[in-house]
Amino acid sequence: MKVLVATEKPFAAVAVNSIRQVVEEAGFTFELLEKYAAKSELLAAVADADALIVRSDKVDAEVIAAGKSLKVIVRAGAGYDNIDLAAATAAGICVENTPGQNSNAVAELVFGMAVMAARNMYDGTSGAELKDKKLGIHAFGQVGRNVARIAKGFGMEVSALDPFCPDEVMLQAGVKPVHSIEELYGGNNYVSIHIPATPETRGSIGYELISAMPKGSVLINTARKEVIDEDGLRKALEMRPDLKYVADIKPDNAPELADAFGGRVFFTPKKMGAQTSEANINAGIAAARQSVAFLKDGTDTYRVNK
Ligand code: 3PG
Repeated sequence: MKVLVATEKPFAAVAVNSIRQVVEEAGFTFELLEKYAAKSELLAAVADADALIVRSDKVDAEVIAAGKSLKVIVRAGAGYDNIDLAAATAAGICVENTPGQNSNAVAELVFGMAVMAARNMYDGTSGAELKDKKLGIHAFGQVGRNVARIAKGFGMEVSALDPFCPDEVMLQAGVKPVHSIEELYGGNNYVSIHIPATPETRGSIGYELISAMPKGSVLINTARKEVIDEDGLRKALEMRPDLKYVADIKPDNAPELADAFGGRVFFTPKKMGAQTSEANINAGIAAARQSVAFLKDGTDTYRVNK
């Protein structure tokens, strides 16, 4: 049986070696397709794969149909909005993610970008400190919890909004629960977004929320570009010259924003929150183990298409 690792954005080499080892020790064949330029390469490689491990690679109905022997798809990471779950379910394929494995890496980048914004993108002018500032965490999942832990070290006052997380979990982490999105955006100097892209969240953060942020605020997005209403963001940045937006996922209107608001916006060239060797090793090995376990005896602990 064949396990295919298809990553347009490759894992660190050390992670690839570990994945190969897990797959081969289980007696399966390992195949690697990295930095592929065309979808046709993925379609060809998946044709005889039993398991497919991906990152943000798009696994749509066409890819699923091409994977005639596919039994399991493991997204080595948290968000699985890149996978057509309905098509996978209809084809009888199990889809899993590897929750928590890359969350510290993403959380650390949040602070890399927060400090950069606070110091005026390192332009040499007098900036600000994170200490004693208010940080609002939008969704208290694995990344949000790591963000809270690090924020404490900076001496920030931390609150979070998450209707799926009991208040006690936040309180135990020294985080103040807030119960409305207006309170989260209106009451914090920094807001860090950690919601998934779903039909409900797409375009859900727009002008009203962003422009409700206090003077001099910074909005940090290491989640998905789709959750932002980009016209609303542009309008908020236009009306409020004191606001900054830093993101690990370039908005579609990035060049327009950079032209109009240079010095107040920053976008990584490629999504790099989870791009550390540690996160690659953690998520890659977890994905390899989960693929092997599913192929061996149907273990599907992290199945997302139940
Ligand atoms: C995730 O959902 O796990 C992160 O967005 C990381 O995505 P990546 O594997 O494409 O870096």
